[in-house]
Amino acid sequence: MAESPALRVAVDMALCVGHGRCYELAPEIFGEDESGYCVLLRESVPESLSGQARSGEANCPEGAIRVESVG
Ligand code: F3S
Repeated sequence: MAESPALRVAVDMALCVGHGRCYELAPEIFGEDESGYCVLLRESVPESLSGQARSGEANCPEGAIRVESVG
């Protein structure tokens, strides 16, 4: 059975300047485009990946990543 989502992730692409910390620290949630900008790989995050999501949020210098609990 699939894990139910615990968190919802959003990236404000108007703020992303391509620091790349998100996809270095949380590669199962964030990827990169050909210019090094963030690509959100999954909006719904299960509990097992919540540490990656929180790490990405905490380490983006631009504050482009927002993580909120679901439910
Ligand atoms: Fe962009 Fe922040 Fe990631 S600037 S590439 S969302 S660390």
